[in-house]
Amino acid sequence: MEQADAYGGKGMRAPNRETVIGQAMLNNRSFLPDEALDKLFRSARTPNGWLNEAIPDTTLHALYDLVKMGPTSANCSPARFVFVRTAEAKEKLKPALSSGNLAKTMSAPVTVIVAYDAKFHYKLPVLFPHSDAKSWFTSSPELAEETAFRNGTLQGAYLIVAARALGLDAGPMSGFKRNVVDDMFFAGTDWRSNFLVNLGRSDPSTLFGRLPRLPFEEACKIV
Ligand SMILES: Cc1cc2nc3c(=O)[nH]c(=O)nc-3n(C[C@H](O)[C@H](O)[C@H](O)COP(=O)(O)O)c2cc1C
Repeated sequence: MEQADAYGGKGMRAPNRETVIGQAMLNNRSFLPDEALDKLFRSARTPNGWLNEAIPDTTLHALYDLVKMGPTSANCSPARFVFVRTAEAKEKLKPALSSGNLAKTMSAPVTVIVAYDAKFHYKLPVLFPHSDAKSWFTSSPELAEETAFRNGTLQGAYLIVAARALGLDAGPMSGFKRNVVDDMFFAGTDWRSNFLVNLGRSDPSTLFGRLPRLPFEEACKIV
């Protein structure tokens, strides 16, 4: 009975090895059921083709409302997101795409340009008001660039996981010309592209075979 409660009660799948270990470690703190962990991580895949289902504005707003809550250093929130959905905007993206990413991006219901604002620190008086954090970055352009790129990339990762949580599939891509995207979408602004993420519902017939992951012993150390 105790175990069923921990997994959300009646109808939940029996815990596997990982969650049993997690359960012991978490020592009664609440955590997600196996179904949610599968959806976010274990069975989630990177799609290569899409079902023809539109994504409404409300879903994109719900997505951002989750993404914006993910942590960033000094709450700096440097990521900016352009949701490319119209045929006209997709045409602007087209010349930037590598050949392997062309068809799946042109047919994706939405392609997100995950960008960052190189002048993100001008919003710090609002986002981190208890400190003069803006000056940390006005005095060091290198630190500003590193901070924008690190935290903007993290926010792109939050977007992938948040999309999965909302029942979408996400296909991240670095195979494109950043300078072309910047010229087409961000000319005259301080926004810079980082990577792209196709969003929609995956056409399962286009999936590649699952690739192996590194075991704990090769990727981690406990020191
Ligand atoms: C930052 C990033 C860039 C990627 N760039 C590309 C890309 O340009 N083209 C592509 O087909 N897949 C790209 N991928 C997809 C990865 O190859 C894929 O996520 C990985 O092989 C795991 O696949 P799975 O989620 O189906 O297990 C990229 C993934 C990430 C996170």
